[in-house]
Amino acid sequence: MSEQENKKRIFSGIQPTGTFTLGNYIGAVSHWGKLQEDYDCIYSIVDMHAITVRQDPAKLRQHTLEAYALLLACGVDPKKSIAFIQSHVKSHAEMNWILACSTQFGELSRMTQFKDKSQKHPDDVNAGLFTYPVLMAADILAYKADLVPIGADQKQHLELARNIAQRFNNKYGELFTVPEPYIPKVGARVMSLQDPEKKMSKSDENPNACIYILDEPDVIIRKFKRAVTDSEAIVRYADEKPGISNLMSIYSVVTGKDYESIEREFDGKGYGDFKLAVGEAVADHLKPVRDEFARLIADKAYLKECYTAGAQMALNVSRKVVAKAYRKVGFVDSM
Ligand code: TYM
Repeated sequence: MSEQENKKRIFSGIQPTGTFTLGNYIGAVSHWGKLQEDYDCIYSIVDMHAITVRQDPAKLRQHTLEAYALLLACGVDPKKSIAFIQSHVKSHAEMNWILACSTQFGELSRMTQFKDKSQKHPDDVNAGLFTYPVLMAADILAYKADLVPIGADQKQHLELARNIAQRFNNKYGELFTVPEPYIPKVGARVMSLQDPEKKMSKSDENPNACIYILDEPDVIIRKFKRAVTDSEAIVRYADEKPGISNLMSIYSVVTGKDYESIEREFDGKGYGDFKLAVGEAVADHLKPVRDEFARLIADKAYLKECYTAGAQMALNVSRKVVAKAYRKVGFVDSM
């Protein structure tokens, strides 16, 4: 269980905005289960982050439960890690406010994700969307996490969390651990299958651009068959071949083969063979996740038991840090 003094602590989160993508899985969630053997791990379904863009409340509730089941199906074991739903633990909102008062307007204005998302939703550029990275910093710092496993797109937010932690420590005295990013060497940025210059994302309008980890095998294979590549017809990893390089990194992660052996395997073969092999390998790799998800989502009582216990454990860890932060900034003790 958590709070083993000698182990380093990990925190990470994922938004419940629909089924996880292959990008979420390869860039982040697939690592979380392995890490729980060596670290004290805390993982959260961050529903408070999700409402920075407009959500249908009934769907958000359903997606949050599904995301929790998926988290477990991807290998997070609630007996080894703390796995909880963010809105169940009040420390996140409390810490968010404290940290917001140590964050500058200018630094939030520089966040590229804010710029992208405010362009995508021009009718709802709300304050939560702007201050979102502060809540993310609160998630991490409230648990004094040492390491944060994320994909490359979250690096800028983590940098900000580090700056906020350092600034608070300098202003009020040492409290927060300054967290390090943990970004995988291969697969930190899985690209769209239809436009390999763009990150694979749930919000892509082209349904063939994105693999969802609960897609049926034939759907996965079909999407890979339609993946945009180039005209060279040689399977090799190169910057000027973003489509093939993206498929190679996906294939590498799901099969454990390195780029050289992939190049050898497909030497003299066409892209058709390669795309089919990638599609089949991904579909095979995800089958146990799909099966486990189907089992878990049918057992709502078990899920509830897990996330309730997870929230209690998360609160036990984080409330002590919040209490220290309250004292440091000068709030009068309430008890
Ligand atoms: P989110 O929900 O957008 O994504 C969850 C994780 O998946 C990674 N990811 C990718 N990795 C590789 N290739 C891709 N195409 C790809 N798309 C997404 C993300 O980098 C992320 O690690 N703000 C975060 C959630 C969050 C969080 C936190 C993370 C809230 N609080 C505290 C870490 C620590 C987010 O929106 O991730």
